[in-house]
Amino acid sequence: MKQFPYFDLSRHNTFRMKVRCALYLEIEKEEELLKLDWNALPQPVMVLGGGSNLLFTGNYPGTILHINILTQQGYTFGAGVVFDDFCAWAAQEGLWGPENLSLIPGECGASAVQNIGAYGVEAKDIIAGIRAFDRQEGKFVDIDPADCEYGYRTSRFKTEWKGRFVITAVTYRLSKEPRPVLDYGGVRKALEATGHTGALTPQIIRDTIIGIRRKKLPDPAETGSAGSFFCNPVISREQFDKVVAIAREDNGPDYQVPHYEVDDRIKVPAAWMIEQCGFKGRVLGGAQVYPNQPLVIVNASGEASPEEIIGLEQQVIDGVKAKYGITLHPEVEHV
Ligand code: EPU
Repeated sequence: MKQFPYFDLSRHNTFRMKVRCALYLEIEKEEELLKLDWNALPQPVMVLGGGSNLLFTGNYPGTILHINILTQQGYTFGAGVVFDDFCAWAAQEGLWGPENLSLIPGECGASAVQNIGAYGVEAKDIIAGIRAFDRQEGKFVDIDPADCEYGYRTSRFKTEWKGRFVITAVTYRLSKEPRPVLDYGGVRKALEATGHTGALTPQIIRDTIIGIRRKKLPDPAETGSAGSFFCNPVISREQFDKVVAIAREDNGPDYQVPHYEVDDRIKVPAAWMIEQCGFKGRVLGGAQVYPNQPLVIVNASGEASPEEIIGLEQQVIDGVKAKYGITLHPEVEHV
């Protein structure tokens, strides 16, 4: 276990906010969690994965616990393994499952909390088991993903179980049998554009997904962001009809609003709404609505403050609300 007081978190959050925590604790082995005197730590205690889905709104008064367990046994990966390293490994081994999730920032532990998803696949589709330290019972437990109440970018770990479990390893369900998922977000088209014919492999799909993401999303090595900042709203048919009417006033009577049917409700891309409101590329200080994918807010200058990110977030929420009467909710956790 490594302990760092008054620790600079700027390299541990992908938004690159320059904030500090009272104590940063790095756990490298499961046993260290058993020995930890939780009550003696600066409070509150928060588990941090890759820091890729949160916005620090200021210094953190308590302890940040990073589970830096980097083991691999079969299809079981330590919580600290970079999720895309796992994706790369699976593709290289010819194993199907996570290829559509390639290049999502973050770590394996967080994949099971956030139910990360992209291009028609969610983490829940490939998680077979979760190992965690139960702070309430003071022991390690195996959690069945069926008990995790997975939904769109959410799970019981974010609601009822918040703060209770510290995930130390995730077992994934991988398959040697081909199971390509191509019918979402232009994957098939992008695959055709590569000119590939013949049998598909996970590596081919992975490369295709990486190509799509590189075109749309900021390169995390260059530009700070937390990926999608907002969730896509899921609205009623009546609300959708209103959105269509407004869109046709703006864009002509034949205009088609992009959408996906979700049971009896309709998911409308927040990116589309934000674009229609004229926010693409909007700047506030060092923060910017990313021009290629306006669902993402970026730390464009590298020096953006939490206040600037939040200010831009509020402008987007207010603008979309004023035009469509729909309230966008951030996907990024504010800490
Ligand atoms: N669109 C626009 N203008 C734009 C960009 C997009 O109108 O400038 C519209 C288009 O109609 C497009 C639609 O938005 O078809 C959807 O765009 P995209 O395929 O980029 O996906 P998204 O719904 O904006 C979600 C995830 C992404 C994930 C992609 C692909 C959420 C919050 N985000 O974005 O996840 O990569 O689908 O599956 O659900 C992340 O969570 O960090 C993330 C990047």
